[in-house]
Amino acid sequence: MKFTQGIRQKAPWELKDSDVTPELVFNDRRRIIKALGLGALGASIPGQVQAGIFDLFGDKKASQFLTSPLTYTSNLSFTGNGAITPFNKITTHNNFYEFGTSKQDPSENAQGLSVDPWKLVIEGEVERPLTLDLDDLTQMIALEERTYRLRCVEAWSMVVPWVGFPLASLLKKAGVKSHATHVAFETLFDPEQMPGQKSRLMGGGIHYPYVEGLTINEAMNPLSFMAVGLYGKTLPPQNGAPIRLVVPWKYGFKSIKSIVRIRVMDKQPPTSWNQLASREYGFYANVNPNVDHPRWSQATERRIGEGGLFSAKRINTQMFNGYGEQVADLYSGLDLTRYF
Ligand code: MTE
Repeated sequence: MKFTQGIRQKAPWELKDSDVTPELVFNDRRRIIKALGLGALGASIPGQVQAGIFDLFGDKKASQFLTSPLTYTSNLSFTGNGAITPFNKITTHNNFYEFGTSKQDPSENAQGLSVDPWKLVIEGEVERPLTLDLDDLTQMIALEERTYRLRCVEAWSMVVPWVGFPLASLLKKAGVKSHATHVAFETLFDPEQMPGQKSRLMGGGIHYPYVEGLTINEAMNPLSFMAVGLYGKTLPPQNGAPIRLVVPWKYGFKSIKSIVRIRVMDKQPPTSWNQLASREYGFYANVNPNVDHPRWSQATERRIGEGGLFSAKRINTQMFNGYGEQVADLYSGLDLTRYF
């Protein structure tokens, strides 16, 4: 991000303000569609209106989520194109296998997740191990808004306005030792609260707790982000309350939710999806339209919440999800077909 005499210059990949559909405007649009009684008309109405009707599903649930407003200082958008995905889509189309394996399960089953008290430990190869409580997560480092594309390995995508802070800022507080090579992340393990952890069958085959990892250079990259909120409010449970990782150039499964432990290491840590099916999910998991998943193409993606009731919009997937300018040099010399 460039600053010129106090005026922020937009970088080429940034979203134009006019492309953004804020939550309130979006809700107004829904109210209007409702008031017009357009719900039953179906296919004869234009795509945009259909999209509005499509978005009505989830309204009731969205209003039930317990979230509180956050204060943040800056507002950066790293998306380049495409409107921000509506709040009710981001919060009702989720992957969070601890709460079930269907897209609706997390929004339906995660509402009881207790995040207060919460404890996040930062340990391992650091000068100053840290233990943060719930308040620390939103108060220790100045919050900013970052709008990123999220590309799931299942070939769907969204554009999400996260609120949080750079992972590097947190790691700098702990003081990473010079020989550290990787960072490991761990989700809460609490089968009483997370029914998917009770058996491998219920939790999609994953060995819990869900674990993820980055190289130290990936972790220190300015795009790597710790999200504590979205759409200006604290994270709903289904999106990984109270704190989750967001690495926008990698497939969504790297963006681990509801984190309780961050361990700086001197070797590559195991990661959940790689442990489950190493032929299908690599450690790096960089978004790459040229390397297909063994069972489907990664060349295109379905943008959630766009297109009509009967025709979801498909767009071309970009290398590194469009963030090559910021991250490609992390992988120079690496064979990305082998290290996928
Ligand atoms: N983190 C945990 N702990 N458990 C999960 O099942 N799913 C991952 C990731 N983080 C997952 C997780 C996957 S596959 C994706 S695509 C993203 O979360 C989805 O994030 P979202 O539901 O906020 O869109």
